[in-house]
Amino acid sequence: MTEHYYYAACTLGLEQVLAAELTALGAGRVEARRGGCAFTGDRAIGYAACLWLRSAVRVQEELARGFVRNREDLYALVGSVDWSASITYLQTLAVDGTVKDSFANDTRFPVLVVKDAVCDQFRDRTGKRPSVDKDRPDLRIKLVLQGQEAIVYRELGGEPLHKRGYREIQHKSPLNEATAAGLLLHADWDRQSPLCDPMCGSATFLIEAAWLATDRAPGLGRSFAFERWHDADQDAWRKLYDDAEARARRGASKLPKLGGNDRHPGAIAIAQQAVAKADLTGKIELRHGDARDYVPPFVTRMVVSNPPYGDRLAADPEALNGSWDALGQFLHRECHGAIAWILCGNADLTRNLGLRASIKMPVKNGPIDCRWLRYEIDGG
Ligand SMILES: C[S@@+](CC[C@H](N)C(=O)[O-])C[C@H]1O[C@@H](n2cnc3c(N)ncnc32)[C@H](O)[C@@H]1O
Repeated sequence: MTEHYYYAACTLGLEQVLAAELTALGAGRVEARRGGCAFTGDRAIGYAACLWLRSAVRVQEELARGFVRNREDLYALVGSVDWSASITYLQTLAVDGTVKDSFANDTRFPVLVVKDAVCDQFRDRTGKRPSVDKDRPDLRIKLVLQGQEAIVYRELGGEPLHKRGYREIQHKSPLNEATAAGLLLHADWDRQSPLCDPMCGSATFLIEAAWLATDRAPGLGRSFAFERWHDADQDAWRKLYDDAEARARRGASKLPKLGGNDRHPGAIAIAQQAVAKADLTGKIELRHGDARDYVPPFVTRMVVSNPPYGDRLAADPEALNGSWDALGQFLHRECHGAIAWILCGNADLTRNLGLRASIKMPVKNGPIDCRWLRYEIDGG
């Protein structure tokens, strides 16, 4: 077996969740780093990572690593990779990168060197070169240049992995699907107890909870860049995909009671569309109203929510305090004996809940520093 070196990226704060997912998947030498995990394995492990990782936003395979002091070193390093293993000159590519303390001041020049080295290799061999497509390339190359070390990756997913395919319209401040799934995994929900989100927005938590409970791979129903590569192991991929379909069929009966509520009618309309796209029509009970008055259609054991906390400067404090007060009233009235996990990006707001958090896990939501807070309601 040829061992490949991979890197999966995630939201800052979810590295341990991702490491646990990778270990469960059978990845080798899993090593958590800031914002992701390195791991090793065969081709199938790379494909399985794209198909099954819930908390990852990207999976990339390392193709070359070396010392580079100037343009020539970088050009030679990139030229040492056989790019025809990935694509033909009829396909498209894009290059992006990150640069720190290197021979180049910013990413533009080294990214151009990488692109030239790849295209020149094709031109030298075939007389033709692939063209660049920044939006939906067949091959996305990532350069990481730090000091004198350069690493060249190819991105297996293409489109980021959090784009599961169920969200067509964006709600205001939606939670990234991979972040929502990672937070649910961290919450250690038993995947059976009734769960609700009283401020569900576009229902991201609820859809991710449904897929988690029913063993549906988050990558089912979407395509990945590696499927279009020359060296794709199509048999291994087909086997993984068929197995994921069979698991989803078997898991469909395991759906627990799930309910959501939001006071914004537009949010509920978007949530309904997303639920339908996620093959969950009629399986998540959605209501429209203020959380203050929300009565879930079951005895809830688990609450997960991402209430508004806004941009500290732009937000209206009165409205924010009102929302958190409504959430507190809901928790005290409807959730005796339950566990609540609430995402918060503004610590001042939590006093409206009248509860003390037993766990405060730091996590990013986009650019906002948040805490994932655990509350046991009346000894839940
Ligand atoms: C940050 S958004 C949630 C986004 C959601 N997690 C998603 O992925 O789409 C906060 C939501 O809380 C809702 N909200 C705020 N105050 C509320 C209240 N008092 N009752 C019910 N919903 C409320 C807003 O309408 C908004 O949809």
